[in-house]
Amino acid sequence: MTSIPSDIRGDSEEEVPDGIPPAREIDLPTGTPATDRDAAEGRVPPLSPLPAQDFWEALYSRRSVRRFEDKPVPRELLDQIMHAGTWAPSSCNYQMWDLVAVDDPDVNAQLGALSTQLANAPVNIVVAYGRDFSRENDAGIQSASALIQNMSLAASVLGLGTFWITQTGGAEKVREVVGLPPDRMVVAVLAVGWPRSSLGKGPRRRPLSDVAHFNHYGGRPIPSSPHPRDWEPDLLATYQRARVLNGLRHNKPRAWEERALLRALGRFVPPADPTHTPRWLDVLPCTGILTARMGRERSGYAFEVLERTPEVARFVSGRLPGEVPTHLWPGAEDAGPADGSFDQITCLFRLEGMPPAERGELLKAMARWLKPGGRLLLGFVSSHSFHGAVESLRRRGSGPGGVEYVLSPDPSIGPFEALAPRAVHDLVRAAGLCVKHHLGLQALPQPEELDFRTRNFRPLTQTVARTLGKACLGIESIPGVQSTWGRFQFLELTR
Ligand SMILES: Cc1cc2nc3c(=O)[nH]c(=O)nc-3n(C[C@H](O)[C@H](O)[C@H](O)COP(=O)(O)O)c2cc1C
Repeated sequence: MTSIPSDIRGDSEEEVPDGIPPAREIDLPTGTPATDRDAAEGRVPPLSPLPAQDFWEALYSRRSVRRFEDKPVPRELLDQIMHAGTWAPSSCNYQMWDLVAVDDPDVNAQLGALSTQLANAPVNIVVAYGRDFSRENDAGIQSASALIQNMSLAASVLGLGTFWITQTGGAEKVREVVGLPPDRMVVAVLAVGWPRSSLGKGPRRRPLSDVAHFNHYGGRPIPSSPHPRDWEPDLLATYQRARVLNGLRHNKPRAWEERALLRALGRFVPPADPTHTPRWLDVLPCTGILTARMGRERSGYAFEVLERTPEVARFVSGRLPGEVPTHLWPGAEDAGPADGSFDQITCLFRLEGMPPAERGELLKAMARWLKPGGRLLLGFVSSHSFHGAVESLRRRGSGPGGVEYVLSPDPSIGPFEALAPRAVHDLVRAAGLCVKHHLGLQALPQPEELDFRTRNFRPLTQTVARTLGKACLGIESIPGVQSTWGRFQFLELTR
């Protein structure tokens, strides 16, 4: 038995930071010693002996690591990682990959200036592939990707952390910084270093039964469309469950959205009378961001949650204190909430993501679930507002493309379309509900939103856009402007 020598790991045993498995005692490979042919053909690892790890253990324990110790990675380990990379398959076995491991802080600072993602690790391995090789089906990129995955697994087995970076701030600029010639295409960068803290469990994966099929595809794919009409309700349920289970970044309430919600609560939902605990149903909250906020603001109510899947319902109820009953939509006949149950129902910005036929059904069901005298607070984004202009700018912008960037609201939880106020009023009437009060808010982007949306503008354009935007905000105080043109529309509805 032996272990990786401490000089190769870069430190003495005591100095290994938390979370990095100590060099393990390993069985030397005694079976078939490397032959001269193995050596000649590159089948001998630069680092010997290697730590042993079961394949499945290696697979499950690899995580993306984004925070690293300020400590160098010995080149012997980097050689080992890159060696593992080169044993990946490549299209036609061309092996047209090139790797530049950047461990010089000055060169890393140049990379870090291109993208903050490149400013995290002591080593950035730039992965390139011959631009004009294996272009069919992007086989060159596929080959480079196989190499990157081999390197990630090898690094993990060696106790190192990695994360795969495509947001490099410009592949061509990265190529120039490391001196790769123009006919090389930078595919990605793999950041490598000693993890700063112990690694938790990775995000869950979509269930195999959703993903894998034998002989003939037997499923229905999640649509690559931002339009609600292209989504069946059960596919929306599958997508949202996957987003939540896969580690949806759900803790990013937008200040301007929260502010609108608080105004609406202040206007339409009085604090609970302390002599009894009224029941409140929050409908399809998904991320639970707004639910958590309402729970804090109106703690005298007994909250319940209606969701499309038990997993998402549990996720949201976990954001509220105490036991929170959950219900499913669409529920089986006798499984949904009982009619006449709730003093308060909220449905905030969810009709926009639904297939149109489902909107009316949900409104009718919510009308039934209200107690006599109960109130439904419906919030929606109006298509008669600046919302559409912001979205089309976002789509046309030079930022990243891909349907996930138009599935909104942020964080992307499905398709979304702003609604025409008249169409909403028609649905409300058809559901047997009456509008008691109406509040329109934010006819123009608020200061925090302006700052956020212009964060990647050039300095001059940014200053002009922000100054102009903030100067125009006075228009909102003209009577009727917000109720007609406000992006956020809230309706207080009763039966
Ligand atoms: C092609 C590809 C590109 C990625 N790009 C980035 C990136 O630019 N920045 C980043 O932080 N993570 C990036 N990742 C890492 C993923 O976010 C990460 O693998 C995913 O969340 C799953 O987490 P896990 O690696 O811990 O299992 C990328 C992963 C892949 C496969």
